[in-house]
Amino acid sequence: MSGTAARRRPVIAIDGPAASGKSTAGKALADRLGYLYIDTGALYRAVGWLASQAGITPENPEGLADLMAKTPITLAGDASDRKVLVGGRDVSGEIRTEEIGHLASAFSALPQVREALLGIQRRLGAGGGVVMDGRDIGTVIFPDAEVKIFLSASDRERSRRRWRELSDRGERSDPEEVRRELGRRDSRDRNRPHAPLRTAPDAVSIDSTGLSPEQVLERILAVVEARA
Ligand code: DC
Repeated sequence: MSGTAARRRPVIAIDGPAASGKSTAGKALADRLGYLYIDTGALYRAVGWLASQAGITPENPEGLADLMAKTPITLAGDASDRKVLVGGRDVSGEIRTEEIGHLASAFSALPQVREALLGIQRRLGAGGGVVMDGRDIGTVIFPDAEVKIFLSASDRERSRRRWRELSDRGERSDPEEVRRELGRRDSRDRNRPHAPLRTAPDAVSIDSTGLSPEQVLERILAVVEARA
């Protein structure tokens, strides 16, 4: 790039399994850098919500594709108060349940769904200056992202975090069932044929087990400084 050309601010991709700390780290990082933060899981959760409202199952991908073509899914507000709108209706709270997370994972395996959400995600990050978290940001959505992080944590730690998150929201749950559900979700997200959860070859892996949110942020900032 020539010295005078304006350099695009980086795209920072944070991928990893459920409850690995992506959204906590992503929000803090975006806040520190003054970047836009996009939680792409919210888009898949919105699709899960839409399908459940319409009574559509993953066995009817064409029906879902038709419905998605007619129903805009948009993000509004800012990182501190992000709104997810489906056909203009604010579903930000409703999509955060375990049930919708499960549906999001099931529907996210459909190529029709991934295709429909690809353009939305690329448009959101097109200008750079964005921290985007998900499962395939560094591999499929922005394979040229300047910074790629793969965030993980032990199964035990992730189950504990997810259980605490649910309890904080007043959702009663059995810790064993939370652990089993995370296992099912991991397996589905890693083994689907389309855009499975994978570590991009040029991603930096960070294991957040035993690290505080501040320590995770410091490690990611060190990668950003080195790469961006
Ligand atoms: O990050 P989350 O738990 O809110 O995501 C819910 C589901 O959405 C997840 O189990 C798989 C899917 N997802 C995906 O396939 N690709 C993404 N970039 C983000 C989420």
